Amino acid sequence: MPGFFRDNQRLVCDGQSLEAIASDVGTPCYVYSAPAIRARYAELASAFAGHPHAIHYALKANSTLAIVRLLKSLGAHADANSAGEIDVALRAGFAPSEIVFTGVGKTPEEIERAVGLGLKAINAESFGEMDRIDRIARRLGTRARVAVRINPDIDALSHPGISTGRKTNKFGVAIEEARAMCREMATRAGLHLVGLHVHVGSQVTKLEPLRRAAEALVALATELERDGVSVEHLDVGGGLGISYDGGSVPTAADYAAAVLPAIEASGRSLVLEPGRVIVGPAGILLMRVVDLKPHSAGKFFVIADAGMTELMRPMLYGAYHAIEAVTPRPGAAISADIVGPVCETTDTLGVDRTLPPVEPGDLLAARDAGAYGSVMGSNYNRRLLPPEVLVEEDGWRVIRRRQTIDELLQTET
Ligand SMILES: Cc1ncc(COP(=O)(O)O)c(C=O)c1O
Repeated sequence: MPGFFRDNQRLVCDGQSLEAIASDVGTPCYVYSAPAIRARYAELASAFAGHPHAIHYALKANSTLAIVRLLKSLGAHADANSAGEIDVALRAGFAPSEIVFTGVGKTPEEIERAVGLGLKAINAESFGEMDRIDRIARRLGTRARVAVRINPDIDALSHPGISTGRKTNKFGVAIEEARAMCREMATRAGLHLVGLHVHVGSQVTKLEPLRRAAEALVALATELERDGVSVEHLDVGGGLGISYDGGSVPTAADYAAAVLPAIEASGRSLVLEPGRVIVGPAGILLMRVVDLKPHSAGKFFVIADAGMTELMRPMLYGAYHAIEAVTPRPGAAISADIVGPVCETTDTLGVDRTLPPVEPGDLLAARDAGAYGSVMGSNYNRRLLPPEVLVEEDGWRVIRRRQTIDELLQTET
C-alpha cells in the first residue's frame, strides 16, 4: 500500500522526504499521499463492484479542495453536511445530481439552496424538516428528491461521541416514524421520495452494527413497497473504521460482505458515504519539537508546535494517534506526554508515549490524521491554519498555503 513508510529509518511519503517538505513549507503542516488515497478508494470501489452503487465521499472527513477534486477524478460522488460543503463539492466539479445532503440541522436557507440545485437526495432527519423541504420546493415550483434518515437504535460499538444510531442520539427518526414519513412524502406535491438513509456512527470496527443497519433499511424498503411506496436507493452511510493503533480492522471486502447480501436481495441500488476509511491513513500532521521539559519520575513533556488547533481528535474524544519521530535519533528511548502550545491543559496529543530521544527542532509525525484533522482546525489563540501538501510519486505540491494574520483579521473591524 502506498503512503507513509520508513526508508533507512526515515519516515517518508511515497519516497518524498518529509524533512524537505517541512523545511520548505514550515511546521505544523499536513501531508497527504495521493497514491494512498487512490489505492484506498480503489479497494472500496472493487469491493462493491458487483452491485450498482455510488460512493459518495463524505466531505466532512477532509474537504480541502484538491483532495475533493482527487476523489472526483477517481469517480466518487459527494456527501455534504452543510451549504459550505455543497459549495466545495460544486467547485470541485461535482454535478448536483452527484451530491447527497445530510445533516441534523439544515437551515431554511440551506434547504432552499439544496432544493434549487436539485441534489440527488436531501436526507430528511425529522417530520418538521420534511415539511420545510416540501414547502420550499412547492414555493420554488419543483419537487425535491428526498430520503429519510432512519435511527435504528443500533449501537455502533464506537466512541459515544461519534455514535449516531442510538435512539438517544439526535440523528434521524425511529423506524415507526420513518414509515409514517415515507407514506406522507408519497402524498406531498413538493417531494419525491428516492431513498432511505442510515448512518450509525464513525470509526466503526465491528461489522455487526453496519450489517444490522443495512438490514433495517432493507426491511423498511420491503414493507413500504407492499404499501405501494418505493425507493430507488438505500444509503448505508459511512462509518467503516481504520486502525489507529496497528490492531486489525475489517477490510473493504469484509465490509462489502457484511452489507451487500441484504442490499442485493432488495434489488435497490446502494449509496455509501465513506470518509475516514479513504483519507484517514493517507495523511499525517508534521510538527516540530519546540521544547522538552522534565515531567515526573524521569518522564518528559515534549512540547510540539502543533496541538488542538491543528488536530483536535485527541482532545475532543480521547482519540489515539501514533506519534513518531520522522528521523529517529539513536539512544535510549524516553517516556513522554506529547503536548501542544495552546493555553489549555487538554491540549495533549499523546500521554505516556515512548519516543526515541528528541531535541528541540526535531520533526514528529502524528499518523492517520488525514480524516477529521485539518477540517476541525481552529484559530484559537490566534493561531494560523497550517499548510497542506499533496504528495505524488514524482513530487509534491502545496494544496493549501499557511493562513496569514491579515487573512485571519480580514473579516473584523
Ligand atoms: C451522515 C454521515 N455520513 C457519512 C459520514 C462519514 O463517516 P466516516 O468518515 O466514518 O466514514 C458521517 C460521519 O460521521 C456522517 O455523519
